[in-house]
Amino acid sequence: MSNWLDIDSKVVIITGGSSGIGSVIVKSLLANGTIVYNADLKNSDEIHEHYNFIEVDVTDKNRVQEAVKSIYDNEKRIDILINNAGVNLPRLLSDTQGTHPEYEINERDLDFMFNVNLKGPIWFSQAVAKYFIKQQAGKIINISSEAGQEGSEGQSLYSATKAALIGLTRSWAKELGKHNINVTAIAPGIIEETGLRTPEYESALAYSRNITVDQLNGDYSKSIPLKRVGKLSEIADLVCYLSSSKSNYITGTTINISGGKSRG
Ligand SMILES: NC(=O)c1ccc[n+]([C@@H]2O[C@H](COP(=O)([O-])OP(=O)(O)OC[C@H]3O[C@@H](n4cnc5c(N)ncnc54)[C@H](O)[C@@H]3O)[C@@H](O)[C@H]2O)c1
Repeated sequence: MSNWLDIDSKVVIITGGSSGIGSVIVKSLLANGTIVYNADLKNSDEIHEHYNFIEVDVTDKNRVQEAVKSIYDNEKRIDILINNAGVNLPRLLSDTQGTHPEYEINERDLDFMFNVNLKGPIWFSQAVAKYFIKQQAGKIINISSEAGQEGSEGQSLYSATKAALIGLTRSWAKELGKHNINVTAIAPGIIEETGLRTPEYESALAYSRNITVDQLNGDYSKSIPLKRVGKLSEIADLVCYLSSSKSNYITGTTINISGGKSRG
């Protein structure tokens, strides 16, 4: 039972592995013996013999294709893709208070979020699927969000990108199942703080809900049945499980990991 997951030597690409959820997933994967390629805008301070950084903007289709090809040429296989890079700018459909028009949905912010959160996973999955089909094996894991399943006040654009990722997951599972490729998504709820929660994010979200920044981190004992936020390591554990052959019969579905907060 000591090596139950059995993902040693698997070649994994993760996007956005330099911060937050991604960086903890990277550590868990390395601890479980995988070879990790982190595709991010900037590197982290991770040091491990099986850790590799590759500078990629996930919205740049040509760069994504080039990066995936170079990883395949190095390793002669790719086993797992984790589409984790994501951004969130809370924006209101209509700024009824009228004091922060910049927090109303505008084209620049919409394009930014849709590009990173959707084009990123699409370009990466497309580039990797080519090799997965050749191998007749592979796993794609998309990091969606509870907001994509439930909606979220002040975060409709973000929620829309994460709901679309669930749609991509279901559809790609149908397209790729015949090639022995699993496509799954996870939907984390409220979790330990990550780089996503910048001061700009907090003030925009508080404004959109007409509350103070302090009130944002409310009493989770009422809203979360397990009465606490999720640990990043708990998200990483689920991703490691979905990366392993133990989850071989799971595809086309999104696993909610929110302490029971949402129906999932
Ligand atoms: N933090 C949460 O509460 C939460 C909840 C549910 C889902 N998620 C999702 O989890 C994922 C990780 O979020 P996080 O909270 O760890 O955020 P984070 O900001 O800590 O990390 C995101 C990483 O993505 C990278 N990135 C951003 N744009 C990129 C681009 N164009 N190309 C390459 N890399 C890029 C960043 O450099 C960063 O390292 C996201 O998809 C997010 O939507 C987060």
